[in-house]
Amino acid sequence: MSLTATLSQMFGDAFASQGLDTSYGTVVVSARPDLAQFQCNGAMAAAKQAKKNPREVAQSVIDNLVDKTPFAELGLAGPGFVNITLTDEYLAEYIDSLDEESKFGTLTDEPKKIVVDYGGPNVAKELHVGHLRPAIIGESVKQTLRYLGNDVVGDVHLGDWGMPYGQLIADLEDRFPDWPYFDESKTDGYPETSPLAIEDLQVLYPQAALRAKEDEDFAARARAAVVELQAGRPGYRALWQHMRDISIAAMKKVYDRLNVHFELWYGESTINHRLKPMVKRVSDSGDAYESDGALVIEVMTDEDTKEIPPLLVLKSDGASLYTTWDLATIEDRVEEFGAEEILYFVDVRQGLHFEQVFRAAHKTGIAPPEVVLEHPGNGTVNGPDGKPFKTRDGGLLTLRELIDMVVERAAQRIEENALAAEFDDEEKGEIAEMVGVAALKYGDLQNHRSSNYIFDVDRFTSFDGKTGPYLLYGAVRMQSVLREAGGRGLAAGTVIAPTVDQERNLMLQLARLPEVVARTAEHRAPNHIAEYAYELVADFSRFYEVCHILREEDQARQASWLHLIELALAELRLLLSLLAIDVPERM
Ligand code: ARG
Repeated sequence: MSLTATLSQMFGDAFASQGLDTSYGTVVVSARPDLAQFQCNGAMAAAKQAKKNPREVAQSVIDNLVDKTPFAELGLAGPGFVNITLTDEYLAEYIDSLDEESKFGTLTDEPKKIVVDYGGPNVAKELHVGHLRPAIIGESVKQTLRYLGNDVVGDVHLGDWGMPYGQLIADLEDRFPDWPYFDESKTDGYPETSPLAIEDLQVLYPQAALRAKEDEDFAARARAAVVELQAGRPGYRALWQHMRDISIAAMKKVYDRLNVHFELWYGESTINHRLKPMVKRVSDSGDAYESDGALVIEVMTDEDTKEIPPLLVLKSDGASLYTTWDLATIEDRVEEFGAEEILYFVDVRQGLHFEQVFRAAHKTGIAPPEVVLEHPGNGTVNGPDGKPFKTRDGGLLTLRELIDMVVERAAQRIEENALAAEFDDEEKGEIAEMVGVAALKYGDLQNHRSSNYIFDVDRFTSFDGKTGPYLLYGAVRMQSVLREAGGRGLAAGTVIAPTVDQERNLMLQLARLPEVVARTAEHRAPNHIAEYAYELVADFSRFYEVCHILREEDQARQASWLHLIELALAELRLLLSLLAIDVPERM
């Protein structure tokens, strides 16, 4: 159990002995570390409920606990706060009990089946800056929920079923009328390999879109093509499958570099077979009705103070759309996977879309009432002007270019700091990639997901301050101390009571991990882990500065310190793995 959970239980019992609820016993890390290590603020609320004096309630709690082992000091402050300081012996004993196997005191949640929908790229288009945040925030929260014991599956939810694919097919049919995909008398035996490369698609896609805008006749053919594709015309399906496959292969290269891995490469198309029956069901039930020729579901309720337009199920030409696919995808996730929670890591600007979809899903029973549907939206990556990041000529930077840019700067930084100097070029390159990707990811994840931030390659790649490179360097230093100690035949031993503040602070910091992981999962916000990882490395550095491990003569103390470093490294590695950031062996 985590340290605060253990303390909370003791305080809860103390409240209970006064006939008050145990929940008042919640203990948190002190907001004033100069005064105490922890605090319990429950007396105020408890007193209100019991119609008693809060200071008296707090005093009774203190009297009940003051002689118990963990406490060096319990102080009453202000209107009824209890300030808590632990004995060094108790703290050391607690820290000694932590290890990877016990998940550092983390309690696993009641396991839930959770789908994380993140990534959301579109077929035939290159990944761009806008795809960074959904991918890396989603990956991190997915890893965190999984660490807590949940059954989590990540789905990229490809955009693969809309008008662009009709436009591409119609355009290709004009260009290459002889391709077997367009021969209506054929129904199988299409080529195994794609006649198009990803580079072709990236050129053709915008051209086809432009053509559809300018040429109404072409646009009509594109609409017809999409209807035929969705209805399953074999040649169109085969061509579309090629486009999908080569797009996925190209996307994977970029996502791999970011350590983003999807269990499922489903997409809007995956649930095509569900559309007709679902539409029929919501029409029959009366949830969906016709409005101006379109089929809609009313999602506003009497409690709404702002307008929420009805959700569009079918357009007036009978075509399904983005909302329909998301609705049917919920049905699929509930029925096929038994999803109890579905989380959508998508730009905040899609908030209204998800609000409509979630309401419609619950209203129609597509999602049973207890299924949690949530859109933890993300803000944008901005340029120095505070507007969404663009290239110098105003174009959209591809994600690949963005990563390259940071990796290149990271390589310079490594050079400037005389790191990895004697390594061969291959290892140098690998380290630069790891440092660059860590810089990019940490620069992003340190912000709350919903806020926008300014992309600053110089700040992100610095080895000083709250950055990815600083954290990796911290991990590498811990590794090298342990290697050095191992080389001298020194081994970690029992953690003993701290004697200096820096050592005590590191221990208190090490004990905080479970709360931070839980908070990250609860708020779907990796910035809590990002911040904590930084504090941990900073506390390690302060400790390492005053506790000269390799020179220490007291063997028990030296062994205890080594234990602390092992623990710090194990926790740091875990935290970085929850951010999906790789750590080099050395640099
Ligand atoms: N492909 C969509 C877009 O480009 C994002 C998909 C987000 N996920 C979802 N289930 N709607 O805007």
